[in-house]
Amino acid sequence: MVDPQVVLTERVQRALGAAFGPEYADADPLIRPSQFADYQANVALSLAKRLRRAPRDVAQALVDALDVADVCAGVEVSGPGFVNLTLADTWIAGQAEAMRDDEALGVARRAPQTVVIDYSAPNAAKEMHVGHLRTTIVGDALARVHEHVGDHVIRQNHLGDWGTPFGMLMEHLLDVGEEEALRRLASGDGNAFYQEARHKFDTDPAFEERARRRVPLLQGGDPESMRLWHEFIEHSKRYFNQIYRELGVTLTDEHIAGESMYNPMLADVCDELERAGIARISDGALCVFPPGFTGRDDQPLPLIIRKSDGGYGYATTDLAAIRYRVRELKADRILYVVGATQALHFQMVFATARMAGWLTDDVRAEHVQIGNVLGEDGKIFRTRSGKSIKLSELLEEAVERAEAVIADRGYDPETRKEIARKVGIGAVKYADLSVSHDSEYVFDFDRMLALTGNTGPYLQYATARIRSIFRKGGIDPEQATGAIRLGEPAERALALTLLGYPSVVEKVAEASEPHRLCTFLFELAQAFTGFYESCPVLTAEDPAVRESRLALSALTLRVLLQGLDLLGIEVPERM
Ligand code: ARG
Repeated sequence: MVDPQVVLTERVQRALGAAFGPEYADADPLIRPSQFADYQANVALSLAKRLRRAPRDVAQALVDALDVADVCAGVEVSGPGFVNLTLADTWIAGQAEAMRDDEALGVARRAPQTVVIDYSAPNAAKEMHVGHLRTTIVGDALARVHEHVGDHVIRQNHLGDWGTPFGMLMEHLLDVGEEEALRRLASGDGNAFYQEARHKFDTDPAFEERARRRVPLLQGGDPESMRLWHEFIEHSKRYFNQIYRELGVTLTDEHIAGESMYNPMLADVCDELERAGIARISDGALCVFPPGFTGRDDQPLPLIIRKSDGGYGYATTDLAAIRYRVRELKADRILYVVGATQALHFQMVFATARMAGWLTDDVRAEHVQIGNVLGEDGKIFRTRSGKSIKLSELLEEAVERAEAVIADRGYDPETRKEIARKVGIGAVKYADLSVSHDSEYVFDFDRMLALTGNTGPYLQYATARIRSIFRKGGIDPEQATGAIRLGEPAERALALTLLGYPSVVEKVAEASEPHRLCTFLFELAQAFTGFYESCPVLTAEDPAVRESRLALSALTLRVLLQGLDLLGIEVPERM
């Protein structure tokens, strides 16, 4: 355990038990970073009332019982009853060395859980928009982090590949000509294709009639309709896969578990709910009224699982999916990385699944809400003409702009292209990840590509700079395993920052918050900048100091690289 906050929490709890009785041993010691020491424990103030003693007395009794001689260089009561804790340089250095000697950099592998992660989930029938880009990027980072801490991750791409819109899409496909339509789908023109079909559906009654007739054919498994549908999906998938490859996300065809997959289970899901008395007919539709959900006029809000015309919808599919994930996939935890606008839908689906006994207390289902990506006008991000953005073009633009940023660095064209790809894509991904996942943010190329601030390129640049130190010195960072000694304040600050890494990673897995890792890496890069500016590395005179600084630099590089890898961000060797 290298995280000082965790170590101090344990020690203070032990002291609380010793000083005030075992019933106090699990009180939260309220350890916080402090201006006056490394940390302060505020527990004395919170316990004073319960103990009927003055807070300063409580603090002093705590300090008297506190055994931190090996960890802290200074412990003192201050102010109304804070306990200030200053870590010993030798302890920090020892922990940093332990972290360095651990291949996992101190991140503990835990008892594996089966974590189902539902993410990306674009619609073959509608558009893949920047919102899907964000669910893809955030979901992929969570998948990587969970695998890293030892979980068994099952990726599920809940593709929108079924439903009534396919009636009009199949008819439009026939009108356009199969070959031409499929070519367009595979090249990412699906959004426009959908809009054309929609327009015809809305304005041409004969087309509308054909489209409507096509739906039962599809649902009934008519071979020619199914063949067209398959082709349609295959070509849409080709485009999605191209985007996944460009983004460097880990999703492949084997993770596709689209809406169509659940089609054969829907009737049974409705039956099971009806038989259990959980669903009932209301206005001709089969509905569940999970307790606690009310709409206008305080009327109970229905989750419609079978429409009056016998059709099933999005909610039915999600109920089938949750049942499948618990029963067949044996999920301990299910993360739904989906737009925040669907919050009510998921609350009602989870509540229904609980009523049905599919979701039990030992399975966690969580909606990882994804905030909107906005344009500079503060509205949902679209092109100027109001159409949604073609994602491949967006990524291309990111790479082109990145190339302009590094244009004057003197790289040959091929190297420059490769660096630009990593920087451009990394910038887009980092922008999605660094903001808390449920917040909206404004998509702004200039800001995400900036070489300063909390951006992907800044962190990539930090790694390139450390690598260049080693290149200049002709040293392999892996060989930089000298003893760590902390003389200068900037060395100490850097080492102390490094120690926070394992708990941040564990926290990201626990709370599904990749932005915490971004914040940490940004702070680490800043701590390194502070260190680099005040502590010469290669030119340090004392060989022991030089060794120590090289070791700190190498450890920082490893943590940055591993952290960025967990976020799914590639790093160029030079920049
Ligand atoms: N395809 C849906 C959309 O674009 C997202 C699906 C999310 N996953 C789920 N199990 N409902 O809005």
